[in-house]
Amino acid sequence: MTLFSRSSGTALITGASSGIGAAYAERLAQRGYDVILVARDRSRLNALAAKLTAVHGVQSEVLPADLTRDEDLSRVAQRLADDERITLLVNNAGITVDGDFLDADINSINSLIALNITAPTRLAHAAGNRFKARGRGTIINLASVLALIHEMSNGAYNASKAFVLTLTRALERELKQHGVQVQAVLPGITRTEIFNRSGQSIDEIPTHMIMEVETLVDASLAGLDLGESVTIPSLESLAQWQQYESARAAMIPGLSLSQSASRYRQ
Ligand SMILES: NC(=O)c1ccc[n+]([C@@H]2O[C@H](COP(=O)([O-])OP(=O)(O)OC[C@H]3O[C@@H](n4cnc5c(N)ncnc54)[C@H](OP(=O)(O)O)[C@@H]3O)[C@@H](O)[C@H]2O)c1
Repeated sequence: MTLFSRSSGTALITGASSGIGAAYAERLAQRGYDVILVARDRSRLNALAAKLTAVHGVQSEVLPADLTRDEDLSRVAQRLADDERITLLVNNAGITVDGDFLDADINSINSLIALNITAPTRLAHAAGNRFKARGRGTIINLASVLALIHEMSNGAYNASKAFVLTLTRALERELKQHGVQVQAVLPGITRTEIFNRSGQSIDEIPTHMIMEVETLVDASLAGLDLGESVTIPSLESLAQWQQYESARAAMIPGLSLSQSASRYRQ
């Protein structure tokens, strides 16, 4: 059943060949969006596109691209800048690397930075300018709860997701008055291929901590419908997030002053 009218427009989803991105493509097609599916694996994209058109009656296009390659990234960014039908960007493609920062292969970390930071930055810039000029549009950026957890996992991954969270908040400030909605989604552990791809095993993680992709994407889209700019799908206590935000806001007046703090003036 199509819940939304066919005027939803077109959603461009990166990392749509598996996991969270494929689930976004499915749910957005269900909402009546035509979809442009971006990832490297053309055959998986073709199979998903055919399914979405057959099941939901939407137009599905595949745009194969390796978003760590500048020419491919430029091509996708140009498409966002040029295609008036695109009303929604899901910046989802991402990778992680196994182990601590110092133990990880530096080339893998460079690829992570290219895919998790450079690519979504470039695409958000292209889409943000396009949507701002038009006065409507939506950008969904996939961060992670690791943006808020500095103590575990590979630091470069956490930092890449903190970048996405910060960029999203800044974009929200710039785009809000132009009718453009921006959302950072912070998934916890979600059952996808990201673990196997980085040589990890999800089987070692307690099952009560693992969310299924459909549950994650449904919660994220519900958060979008509520107008949230930050959505943490499993966090029951919204008050905890609000307290975190309040503590951060309370610090701001003291963060840049002519005098150092008294503890540094002995
Ligand atoms: N799963 C989790 O626990 C979890 C938690 C928090 C946040 N996230 C975030 O959620 C997002 C989606 O991850 P996922 O868990 O769904 O992982 P996934 O199943 O491994 O999907 C990753 C997607 O990114 C694409 N991709 C990988 N390298 C690419 C490249 N160089 N160029 C273009 N596309 C590329 C992959 O497709 P191809 O191989 O076909 O290119 C695939 O479609 C990521 O940003 C991840 O950091 C995941």
